[in-house]
Amino acid sequence: MSAIPTQQKALLLESKHGKFSVGTIEVPKPGPDSVLVKVEATALNPLDWKIQAYGLFVEHFPTVLGFDAAGPVVAVGENVTDVAVGDRVIAQGWFNPVEGTAHGTFQEYYDTPARFVAKVPETISYDEAATIPSCLGTAAFALYNKVSDENFSSSKLLAPWVEGGRGHYAGKPILVLAGASSVGQFVIQLARLSGFSPIITTASLHNAPFLKSLGATHVIDRKLPAEQIKAEAIKLGGGLFEYVFDAVSVAETLELGYALTAPKGDLMVVLSGAELKAAHPDTDKRIHNAQALFVMPVNHDIAASLLAAVPRLFANGDLKPNRPEVLPGGLNGIVGGMERLKKDQVSGVKLVVRPPETA
Ligand SMILES: NC(=O)c1ccc[n+]([C@@H]2O[C@H](COP(=O)([O-])OP(=O)(O)OC[C@H]3O[C@@H](n4cnc5c(N)ncnc54)[C@H](OP(=O)(O)O)[C@@H]3O)[C@@H](O)[C@H]2O)c1
Repeated sequence: MSAIPTQQKALLLESKHGKFSVGTIEVPKPGPDSVLVKVEATALNPLDWKIQAYGLFVEHFPTVLGFDAAGPVVAVGENVTDVAVGDRVIAQGWFNPVEGTAHGTFQEYYDTPARFVAKVPETISYDEAATIPSCLGTAAFALYNKVSDENFSSSKLLAPWVEGGRGHYAGKPILVLAGASSVGQFVIQLARLSGFSPIITTASLHNAPFLKSLGATHVIDRKLPAEQIKAEAIKLGGGLFEYVFDAVSVAETLELGYALTAPKGDLMVVLSGAELKAAHPDTDKRIHNAQALFVMPVNHDIAASLLAAVPRLFANGDLKPNRPEVLPGGLNGIVGGMERLKKDQVSGVKLVVRPPETA
């Protein structure tokens, strides 16, 4: 393995609402409980452009965004015992809204607490592995986290990777709005492992064969009028749904998902459900806001459990990563990729860049 340099390239967000540019920063040294990952691949998420466009969460600039990384561990802190140099891992970028800081993966070397990385098998490429952390976390935590706080909750289901969890919900219908989104693809697969059936999803129909390969039993054309989607879903599911996961949570899907959730049922959303709750103050439907970040205390236990299961789940094919589309130019490819995400021009694939390819 080559020596670790002292300087590296990173994609910097220069200021709130500011420009992105590739610059040079120091390579961090891992703290006692951290590891340094050489970022062979990092994936783009809608949150990257939203933080820049809406001025969300971050107050200290320049900063590095990016919420997903994969690569080999190249250094470990003195207290780290269960991860070693050379391990192939996934890691998650994060932000701290209280401190206004971001800790992102759009750089060549990423320093992260060892407890929040997971090893990935050789059969998964780094491009594929980079698609996993944040979107698998979003899906899994909203379905299975047993812990909640004032901001985040879940359906508190039994996870399929723990004892007795596999197939536990056999025969129960679930509705997944936006199954082709990166989050939706993981929801469908987890629902399959949990035994849900039928698994009914909405997507553009060109994604139907792919979503069926992941476990969807029925794909409804998401471009149909809402009333038609509603009627079709009720017919296929045999009534309103005890479990609905809205994996995109735009205005149209939020109301649709709410209408299709049975009384006392669970509706999981990936953005704030505050407006939906305000519009239906007396509802007996449980609306859960997902929260993907492993570092959030509410997610610590489930993150540990999920990350420990990741090597097995991906080695035996229980879960498949998203299909990566690798953008050219390394870190220079990210700005164009974010524009495509913003314009809703990405369908059924995950945009990925390889920082070592940065010119
Ligand atoms: N709360 C959290 O912690 C957390 C974490 C991660 C992501 N998120 C949020 O979750 C959302 C999804 O993220 P992502 O990365 O999964 O997005 P993504 O992969 O970029 O989503 C794109 C997909 O959404 C589908 N879609 C768009 N509008 C739809 C509609 N009205 N009905 C059905 N499908 C629709 C499209 O499907 P077709 O191509 O089939 O048309 C497209 O493939 C974003 O808003 C993101 O910010 C939240």
